Amino acid sequence: MSELTKISDLLEEVHNYIPKDQEDLEQFRIKFLSKKGILNDLFAEFKQVSGEERKVLGQQINQIKDVSTSKVNEYKALFARETHSKQLNDISRPGEFAELGSRHPISLVRREIIEIFYKLGFSISEGPEIEDDWHVFSALNFPPEHPARDMQDTFFIEKNPDILLRTHTSSVQVRAMQNLAPPLRLIMPGRVFRNEAISARAHCIFHQVEGLFVDKNVSFADLKQTLLFFAREMFGKEAKIRLRPSFFPFTEPSAEVDVSCNICNGSGCNVCKHTGWLEILGCGMVHPNVLENCNIDSTIYTGYAFGMGIERITMLKYEVKDLRLYFENDLRFLGQFKSVV
Ligand code: PHE
Repeated sequence: MSELTKISDLLEEVHNYIPKDQEDLEQFRIKFLSKKGILNDLFAEFKQVSGEERKVLGQQINQIKDVSTSKVNEYKALFARETHSKQLNDISRPGEFAELGSRHPISLVRREIIEIFYKLGFSISEGPEIEDDWHVFSALNFPPEHPARDMQDTFFIEKNPDILLRTHTSSVQVRAMQNLAPPLRLIMPGRVFRNEAISARAHCIFHQVEGLFVDKNVSFADLKQTLLFFAREMFGKEAKIRLRPSFFPFTEPSAEVDVSCNICNGSGCNVCKHTGWLEILGCGMVHPNVLENCNIDSTIYTGYAFGMGIERITMLKYEVKDLRLYFENDLRFLGQFKSVV
């Protein structure tokens, strides 16, 4: 009986216990739960007891154990939280060093291209990367079986009807012309895919920004002026452009555009292969067949279109010599590009 009285005292003690501080809590733990603590003594005594008393005693001892254990855990956590929040509020604590990230060069230049065309009133249009034949080729005046389709090595997902990865973002031009009424003044940034061997100058995934302007009386002169503005904003006020005749099924006439080499200022260097010029994009007047395919009356409207590779512009602007660097995630490369946006 005396044991039980003692135990109910102990039980009351653990129940009512509130530690003054961490040190006090530790004393409590040692007193009850350590190897030489009260509970171990009680368990030892318990072994001697038998009969009716044993059951009640067992329950009581277990209760003391449970209550004291949970008191210790609960207050330990509370003190830890308090210490942590004290540290947070301590203004003399040295700051933690957070490493600064940087934007990927492709994102930087993509943004820069977009900003330049925003100034001219263009807005962004986007479309799917997985496309059908119509949006990537047929609507763009690529005749069936025409070798022009081979210009772009296509990744096919399904044949007949063809489902494929878009080889250019001109597919978004088709969608825009079908869904919106002119005047249209749009740029289409996006990823494109071509089945090419990966090398320093080619990759099977890359990024384009294409542009489309459709309205009444849009002329080739408008196109030239827009591209000159773009070149000067991107490569500096002194930049010049030149247009060389070219061929695309979806534009007529078509041209390829060179910008004066921003590295040697036209006097000739390795990057421009001593020509003084760097090719930056393809362009032309939207072919009337393309307008008609997209339900735009080609007797009323004309338009121009252009398309450039972001990787290529970035290479020229930052003198990146190997396209594969863009995909390798080497921090020594990526860390060189800084941006405030
Ligand atoms: N779609 C062409 C390409 O990917 C680029 C281009 C766009 C050319 C618009 C002319 C007009 O190569």
